[in-house]
Amino acid sequence: MVLVESILALAFGFLGLCCGLLRWNEVRYRKKDMPPGTMGWPLFGETTEFLKHGPNFMKNQRARLYGSLFKSHILGCPTVVCMDPEINRYILMNESKGLVPGYPQSMLDILGECNIAAVTGSLHKTMRNSMLGLISPPMIRDHLLPKVDEFMSSHLSNWSDQVIDIQEKTKEVALYSSLKQIAGIETGPVSDALKAEVFQLVLGTLSLPINLPGTNYRRAFQARRKIVEILKDVIEKRMSSLCSQTDMLELLLKADDNMKSKLTEEQIIDLIIALIYSGYETVSTTTMMAVKFLHDHPEALLELRKEHFQIRKGKSANEGIDWNDYKSMTFTRAVIFETLRLATVVNGVLRKTIQDIEMKGFVIPKGWRIYVYTREINYDPYLYPEPLSFNPWRWMNRNLDSHQYFMLFGGGSRLCPGKELGIVEIATFLHYFVTRYRWEEVGGVTIHKFPRVEAPNGFRIRVQSY
Ligand code: HEM
Repeated sequence: MVLVESILALAFGFLGLCCGLLRWNEVRYRKKDMPPGTMGWPLFGETTEFLKHGPNFMKNQRARLYGSLFKSHILGCPTVVCMDPEINRYILMNESKGLVPGYPQSMLDILGECNIAAVTGSLHKTMRNSMLGLISPPMIRDHLLPKVDEFMSSHLSNWSDQVIDIQEKTKEVALYSSLKQIAGIETGPVSDALKAEVFQLVLGTLSLPINLPGTNYRRAFQARRKIVEILKDVIEKRMSSLCSQTDMLELLLKADDNMKSKLTEEQIIDLIIALIYSGYETVSTTTMMAVKFLHDHPEALLELRKEHFQIRKGKSANEGIDWNDYKSMTFTRAVIFETLRLATVVNGVLRKTIQDIEMKGFVIPKGWRIYVYTREINYDPYLYPEPLSFNPWRWMNRNLDSHQYFMLFGGGSRLCPGKELGIVEIATFLHYFVTRYRWEEVGGVTIHKFPRVEAPNGFRIRVQSY
């Protein structure tokens, strides 16, 4: 009897403590005119529910709280989640009104203080201008596309009669191709050394900033240190070289009138890391998912092949593709947009308030994060009828990519500067992939869609020549 009473007392005590903690966390963040919402547990907030249930957590909170703007506590910060397309657009367009980037501390620590996503105001303008100078459409046409083409053509050879992990391959292709464009790094020991470190760095940017042995955060920090060392070495060799090269590093180091302003070595390194990081996961995941969707939709694959064989007509086997060929890939572009939409490669972007901000009658306090959650726009049946079907044709001749809620590449002053280059890389990969090979899946594949799109057990396909 005494034992039962003790257990009951303990259980009630524990329940009381939990209620007390939850209540305390609510009261702590309570302010006048805040959006509705729950703050979860002290310190952890609702991070576990968010990471576990992802999109469903968002939809449930919206339904429960009757609104597209609600507060929560995720990834270590008090956060307002915004699912309203109109307000999301407003937030992206108004950095100057106190809505600056708000990426997690782990990401900022690992990507560097001068990383473009961490800087604001005039330094952001300088870095962005430098970046736009490196990856603008004329640069792509004259310098980058030939490099990407040569890389894809040689990298996508000898895949016949093999079982490959297309997730691994697309990661490798995205990274090695960008290394070649950025610093002329050919596939070999330097790119291999960078590969291991970059993979580690990416894992750490979405982790809790706990600097303890064995954590992803600590490993990513160490990876950053090694990447900086390798890049310093590459820069040193380049500075002492008498030969002139035509890559991004050359433009950054020999910045003259073409560049708006010369960057320090530290800024150049952070800019290169940002270029590698920003293009790596987005491009590799979209390429992998395009392969998946095309496999599952033979009629779309047929149409895509038609477009690419038309381009190959009149070309010799080793002849590459040029800007005009790329511009004629209208269906390929549609496949890429549809893949980005349906797979939701980017769920949203993060901002931070630097002053109290009023929105839709609510006040978002200074220092809070805003999660500009754009995922739901991708499945809006008014914008995209039958939103869950893969239908690249919806993008043909409808200017969908210029509608005001098109946010696959962000918007405003942070609109992705690598948009065109990313499309060029995926389109060139698809060109060689579908004209050289046919493929079938081996053993099925599981794909996780949140918080990042990935095939946790790999994605094996059997490849044969076409
Ligand atoms: C399919 C491919 C890609 C997608 C879906 C994508 C998506 C995005 C999105 C949504 C943003 C906005 C982030 C924000 O507002 O905070 C962004 C920014 C950025 N992207 Fe991309 N991206 C892609 C490819 C690339 C590539 C290939 C590069 C580099 C070569 C790149 C470089 C950047 C940079 C540097 C920023 C930061 C811009 C700034 O803060 O001013 N992206 N990207």
